[in-house]
Amino acid sequence: MSDLIEGYLGKTVDGKKSRLPAKLDYLQSATGLFLALFMWAHMILVSSILVSKDFMYQVTKLLEASFIFEGGNPLLVSIAAAVIFVIFITHAALGMRKLPGNFKQYQVMKAHAKNMGHDDTKMWFIQAFTGFAMFFLGSVHLYIIMTNSADIGPYASSDRVWSEWMWPLYILLLLAVEFHGTIGLYRLCVKWGWFDGNNPRETRKSLKKVKWALTVFFLVLGFATLAAYMKIGMEQAAAGKVGERYTPQAKVIQLDTVKKGRIA
Ligand code: HEM
Repeated sequence: MSDLIEGYLGKTVDGKKSRLPAKLDYLQSATGLFLALFMWAHMILVSSILVSKDFMYQVTKLLEASFIFEGGNPLLVSIAAAVIFVIFITHAALGMRKLPGNFKQYQVMKAHAKNMGHDDTKMWFIQAFTGFAMFFLGSVHLYIIMTNSADIGPYASSDRVWSEWMWPLYILLLLAVEFHGTIGLYRLCVKWGWFDGNNPRETRKSLKKVKWALTVFFLVLGFATLAAYMKIGMEQAAAGKVGERYTPQAKVIQLDTVKKGRIA
């Protein structure tokens, strides 16, 4: 705790300049980079439903290490979600240091931002707002996944999205995470001077273009994915099959062959 106070004041107990704010900044960048890269992987994996239900099923089983444990072990997914949760909370706690502490501070910042009319300063506000929103939205999602890891799959996930009303939360979370993640990566590049060439102004321009392309790509992919889960969820509900678990095609064919063998 005293470390946090030291980081806040920027001075050690004996009045010397503290290195802690810089260390905390570094940790915030590192956790942010990890979470942004994790989200890319997460979105690609979740979008497996766009290929087929069977493919999403295979991906789920692979992540449950079905190559080691017969039928997969969902506990591994719970552990992964718990680790992500800790990193997520650490990143959010460090981010809180940067938020205005009261309305007066907020007004001063807003007035400065308006005066400057600077794109990157506007982005900072989007970053702060989406980060704050994700504190709630992300926590709900992570807790549910952590405690229901056995219920991930083409039908189980679709039921959660549609019949258990997760879709409104996912719409907001998707918007928040895609803006926050790509703006965050852009800011990391600018802050730590990655890709800085001879002309930093030009570099910023190009980085902004890449940032927008990534935001659009992941938003389109995310909404298409969400629509696919909603559609399956609706179909399951209309057929009165909420709670059913998916049987992969290979197993259906195998069972059919066994049955036919018995009849013949
Ligand atoms: C920072 C953390 C996370 C964020 C911001 C996040 C965000 C999201 C969003 C927005 C969706 C909706 C899908 C879409 O619209 O394309 C989603 C779905 C999903 N996420 Fe995450 N996620 C996070 C962490 C995790 C973790 C750690 C896991 C598993 C270990 C996970 C597993 C899933 C699954 C299985 C779905 C499919 C729908 C469902 O089963 O409920 N997520 N996530």
